[in-house]
Amino acid sequence: MSDKNCRPALADKDAPVADAEVVFVGYPVWWYREPSIIDSFLEAYDFSGKKIVPFVTSGGSGIGPEAPARMREITGAEVDAGMRFPADASAESLKSWAENL
Ligand SMILES: Cc1cc2nc3c(=O)[nH]c(=O)nc-3n(C[C@H](O)[C@H](O)[C@H](O)COP(=O)(O)O)c2cc1C
Repeated sequence: MSDKNCRPALADKDAPVADAEVVFVGYPVWWYREPSIIDSFLEAYDFSGKKIVPFVTSGGSGIGPEAPARMREITGAEVDAGMRFPADASAESLKSWAENL
């Protein structure tokens, strides 16, 4: 995490990104940003013409403006400002948020 260029290997590259118009990218905030493997994921697929909606859990930090900006830079896609949830967020609260977007 101290090296922002670190790209941990993905276990597979089979996510059905090509079939989606909108891709929800969820992750826990680590050291105020996305875990490096999220950047590996974003680099591994073609997101052109798609919209990315980030959502995060954290102990208190917000999603911050930098993560969506970096996602835009990596993918060239439209990236939503995203949403932060507490670490113990319920499945219902995520579902309700997603359905009301
Ligand atoms: C390595 C590491 C770094 C973390 N950094 C932050 C942070 O910068 N800000 C924050 O609010 N929470 C931080 N957390 C707490 C996680 O965001 C929190 O545990 C997570 O969202 C809950 O999901 P989990 O149950 O999958 O870990 C960190 C946790 C870990 C393990």
